[in-house]
Amino acid sequence: MSEKKITISYLKKKMAEGRKITMMTAYDYPTATLIDQAGIDTILVGDSLGMVVLGYDSTVPVTMEEMLHHSKAVCRGAGHCFVIGDMPFMSYQVSVEKAVENAGRFIKEAGCEGIKLEGGSEMAHVVRAISDAGIPVCAHIGLTPQSATKLSGFKVQGKDAEGARKLVDSAKDLEAAGAFMIVLECIPGQVASMITDELNIPTIGIGAGRYCDGQVLVYHDLVGLFERFTPKMVKQYINLAPRIREALVQYREEVEKGIFPGREHSFLIKPEEADRLK
Ligand code: KIV
Repeated sequence: MSEKKITISYLKKKMAEGRKITMMTAYDYPTATLIDQAGIDTILVGDSLGMVVLGYDSTVPVTMEEMLHHSKAVCRGAGHCFVIGDMPFMSYQVSVEKAVENAGRFIKEAGCEGIKLEGGSEMAHVVRAISDAGIPVCAHIGLTPQSATKLSGFKVQGKDAEGARKLVDSAKDLEAAGAFMIVLECIPGQVASMITDELNIPTIGIGAGRYCDGQVLVYHDLVGLFERFTPKMVKQYINLAPRIREALVQYREEVEKGIFPGREHSFLIKPEEADRLK
């Protein structure tokens, strides 16, 4: 574990030494603190926020203000982790100027170290402009949830040779445009492995097999706090939701029965002060 703030050169060194890079999503201060204490390298304030925290049906409605609000909280707890803010839908597609301006807000207002945006070769000019403005850009290809409708649903990408070739070309274009890292989501392991071999920047997989330079998961999936569905690529390391529900039911019952609060949770005035009250 690094004691100091993680830097891009540290991540590249890890990659060069064949040590895996770790990334986890977070959306609030206490989770960021736990992730930092666990020695994880990078935190992604993902726009998955919309689904796992804000209760939207997709990531599409997430706004810049929501992302900044949660990114600020994460940055306050992140400690040594390198924090990447995820640019929400329509915050970087409308114009290059708007994209650079919004990317800058993640750095200036929220305190993030970098930003992430979705899209392949068609987004390379935006990556170039943001990177030229001095902002580290993490690219994201494969299943890009913001364009799930265009992709005809949440489907594995690059399953045929043509689709796979497109992904490899996109990854190369994004690296050439200045991306310092790239997320590969829901693509066959062989394709992720090919991309990882071809690039000099770290690849971070989610549903992309074991040959990426690092891995990312959505925190709420990993700890069992998102019960609407569990994607195949998720490994749930702990199932917190039933345990939290149990504790809440116990609390309700104890309040209803007058068991909580007990003496140990109560404040009393001294007996002589109680006498003076009579
Ligand atoms: O929004 C998010 O959490 C993401 C990760 C799944 C990579 O984009």
